[in-house]
Amino acid sequence: SLPAKSLVSASSNGIRLASYRYSSQAPKVALLGAAGGIGQPLGLLLKQDPLVAHLSLYDVVNTPGVAADLSHIDSNAKVTAHTGQAELFAAVENADVIVIPAGVPRKPGMTRDDLFNTNAGIVRDLAAVIAKAAPKALIAIITNPVNSTVPIASEVLKKAGVYDPKRVFGVTTLDVVRSQAFVAELKGHDATKTIVPVVGGHAGITIIPLLSQVTPATTFTEAEISKLTPRIQDAGTEVVNAKAGAGSATLSMALAGAKFANALIRGLKGQKNVQCAYVASNAVNGVEYFSTPLELGPNGVEKILGVGKVSAFEQKLIDASVPELNKNIAKGVSFVKGN
Ligand code: NAI
Repeated sequence: SLPAKSLVSASSNGIRLASYRYSSQAPKVALLGAAGGIGQPLGLLLKQDPLVAHLSLYDVVNTPGVAADLSHIDSNAKVTAHTGQAELFAAVENADVIVIPAGVPRKPGMTRDDLFNTNAGIVRDLAAVIAKAAPKALIAIITNPVNSTVPIASEVLKKAGVYDPKRVFGVTTLDVVRSQAFVAELKGHDATKTIVPVVGGHAGITIIPLLSQVTPATTFTEAEISKLTPRIQDAGTEVVNAKAGAGSATLSMALAGAKFANALIRGLKGQKNVQCAYVASNAVNGVEYFSTPLELGPNGVEKILGVGKVSAFEQKLIDASVPELNKNIAKGVSFVKGN
């Protein structure tokens, strides 16, 4: 049910409301994995996002405490708590946006693919309930390995007959955020006005910052490019090592996740905007999922903007990422099809 405030704006804008599938005038955001290292600060940021009307928190443990805590914040989002499998359906029912940071993070020495055995099943089982309870929701997957968990969720939705490639996203915003921070630091730019597209996937060599497309226009020496590129690719590992066993990026990821969720909601409301994310894509030949800048709108992905004009160095990185991505994608697909 829409709060009174939204009904007023809805009635003054009835035609546009009719084209919305759910309640994007009063968006419900479901956060799955809400009690975790990412989930808690991400819940905090979503609670204070004025575009969020209902923040639905789901985890297998500790959700009531997180929800009680967040519900005392004097912002307008209504907070509900849902704990354990039996409450998952209610948590995601009629959600406009579902953000998923559920699953285990890396420890030093681990690759994101080492998380596959635990996290693949978590994402598969969440997606199966989403397929029934919120088949039209925009789904933003943070859980690693993103290169595989996006195909996993997609295959589950296909099986259920509700797959829409415009609505399933792997969240790569942290790669963009990091690139923008590092470029701004190196070049003395205003970090809040620096834009760096990052394409490919979300692991190792598949993370491809397009330093040739930085806004404001910025030139880099070859030495800078060959230092900055691997730093961006390995930035997650920098945090994993600094945390020394206590997990991976949580605070910067929460910020990135909140930015991406906000962008999805703005899109649902008709405020088209451009974000990078890992989606089903025909942007690059020979691979079915790829991150590029996307135009977001009322249906999720409105337009795949592609990699644009890239340097020879960047093209080499793109070419090298394709077989790696295909391996990650095939692993995810066969996990669902073989089950
Ligand atoms: P965490 O272990 O602190 O929190 C994970 C939460 O998920 C816990 O509260 C746990 O109870 C919950 N959970 C486990 N199984 C669940 C299930 N079946 N349903 C719902 N919730 C469940 O881990 P953290 O640090 O929050 O990381 C979460 C995930 O995000 C990891 O897979 C990590 O690799 C990934 N990540 C992704 C990034 C990206 O850029 N896409 C960046 C950083 C982390």
